Amino acid sequence: MSIIISPSILSADFANLEADIKRVEPFVPWLHIDVMDGHFVPNISIGVPVLKSVRKCTNLFLDTHLMIENPIKYVDAFCDAGADLITFHVEASKDETLKTIEKIKSRNKKVGISIKPKTSVEEIKDYINLVDMVLIMTVEPGFGGQKFMEDCAQKIKEVKKYSKNEDLIIQIDGGINDMTGKICTDLGANSLVAGSYIYNASDIEKAIKSLDK
Ligand code: DX5
Ligand code: ZN
Repeated sequence: MSIIISPSILSADFANLEADIKRVEPFVPWLHIDVMDGHFVPNISIGVPVLKSVRKCTNLFLDTHLMIENPIKYVDAFCDAGADLITFHVEASKDETLKTIEKIKSRNKKVGISIKPKTSVEEIKDYINLVDMVLIMTVEPGFGGQKFMEDCAQKIKEVKKYSKNEDLIIQIDGGINDMTGKICTDLGANSLVAGSYIYNASDIEKAIKSLDK
């Protein structure tokens, strides 16, 4: 089965973002956009205006990972800017999780739900069959280039246990390289995010292809 590889532009050069998108574009279907607000995670990255500009320079599917508090408040803005899929964190949506899923769906966008390393699959079990994608974090969200937490990857099996949807996308994000990616795909993941592994590679095509096995 082919794996959806989603390069994270967090590891790209933001002063040369279009060029860095063009470097991965021929080899992947998706692009991963990490949005951080300095509250939900201890870092600030990019937001709506950058997504809007990215939309103008590529037709890649824009896989938008919101690491922000109160995600429902920003769904319309990210949809208007050109997101194709919006993933939010269950730790941030609190008692508005269902409403957030419905809001994203009402905009005819794909919806993903994500859990941080310390959050169990139990917390999202009621939502797994309502979303298009589950994103399992294998690092504490906030920064690229961190070490893969292998125990978190075991959650893949649990998500599969609850899922009744054979098309469910199970995406892994954090510390992915050819070795850790293989651990995840062997456990049943079908989408991998990689930032530093792809953008720091001397041969980007080779690095991307090494993840799809
Ligand atoms: C981390 C972000 C990731 C990050 C991954 O909070 O969600 O998408 O860019 O970076 P690497 O692949 O370097 O771990
Ligand atoms: Zn991410």
